[in-house]
Amino acid sequence: IWKSVQSSANRHQLLRRGFGSGASCERKVAVLGAAGGIGQPLALLMKLNPLVSRLALYDIAGTPGVAADVSHVNTRSEVAGYVGEEQLGQALEGSDVVIIPAGVPRKPGMTRDDLFNINAGIVKSLCTAIAKYCPNALVNMISNPVNSTVPIAAEVFKKAGTYNERKLVGVTTLVVVRAKTFYAGKAKVPVAEVNVPIVGGHAGITILPLFSQATPKANLSGDEIEALTKRTQDGETEVVEAKAGKGSATLSMAYAGAIFADACLKGLNGVPDVIECSFVQSNVTELPFFASKVRLGKNGVEEVLGLGPISEYEKQGLESLMPELKASIEKGVKFAHQS
Ligand code: NAI
Repeated sequence: IWKSVQSSANRHQLLRRGFGSGASCERKVAVLGAAGGIGQPLALLMKLNPLVSRLALYDIAGTPGVAADVSHVNTRSEVAGYVGEEQLGQALEGSDVVIIPAGVPRKPGMTRDDLFNINAGIVKSLCTAIAKYCPNALVNMISNPVNSTVPIAAEVFKKAGTYNERKLVGVTTLVVVRAKTFYAGKAKVPVAEVNVPIVGGHAGITILPLFSQATPKANLSGDEIEALTKRTQDGETEVVEAKAGKGSATLSMAYAGAIFADACLKGLNGVPDVIECSFVQSNVTELPFFASKVRLGKNGVEEVLGLGPISEYEKQGLESLMPELKASIEKGVKFAHQS
């Protein structure tokens, strides 16, 4: 019985992936920072996605090579490489989804906030171009610190008069991917069946996994939940240290970015019930931006879902993350208004 349930679930997924997901829609996706550690594997994964008809790969250097390479993969989308600021407009024009993994990654000893000044400037200039060339695109922000780069993008779009809160999303999928993997290992359940919502923000203690809502249910002790929470919050550091100076997560981030972009495309194409966690403009708490489950649809973020019932431990986590998240949001807003 279990096997037949599983195979019908697989069939259902395949149907959603292929025929029911609008694979015939024309969709242009632009990747900004496409020659980087995340950008290159992400470009490849987007080339594998049947929902993409045009793939624009933009970077300040190296994109002609990446684009030529990826373009030989025999899948649907047409690939074009764009290099340097003078080609940014062309890269963006007509885009339905813009994915931004441009910037510098964290090195050992650096906090996400250390990245702030460099990445904030990059995000500001890229978003100024998005407002000009594809103001209706759904922007997937990967560049860190996401807690600040999303508010920066919002301010840039507001200033340009193009802000639409449904079209700006911070990509937090990597922590969800990690939490699923770590939970499956600890709870000894099949990883493909695991769901763990993550709320709050996207750095350190602002990452709040809701293991009390994780499925399939498992009887984990308080200590085990605490260890899983800490490991999820420190997942990036685990990778940064293991890479010993060569950057942060790139391959798992590219995977996570591709999963999230796929969900965005499905939503835009009208697939119902596409739910992912994301850092968005929000009324869930008193903070103007907050990560939680969102429903993606034809207009981007159709609905921001609430927290649901949370445990005492999670309530404490929520309380402790608020001041840091507030400060990171304010830092982004302030940066956007400078110069
Ligand atoms: P990387 O240094 O390998 O690649 C970054 C790319 O951005 C480079 O090719 C660089 O030329 C390009 N770039 C720099 N300035 C640009 C501009 N003005 N326009 C277009 N492209 C530009 O770095 P990596 O490892 O790919 O990381 C990229 C970003 O993603 C970093 O900000 C990193 O912190 C962030 N990140 C986010 C994660 C998340 O969970 N949201 C996880 C891991 C990294």
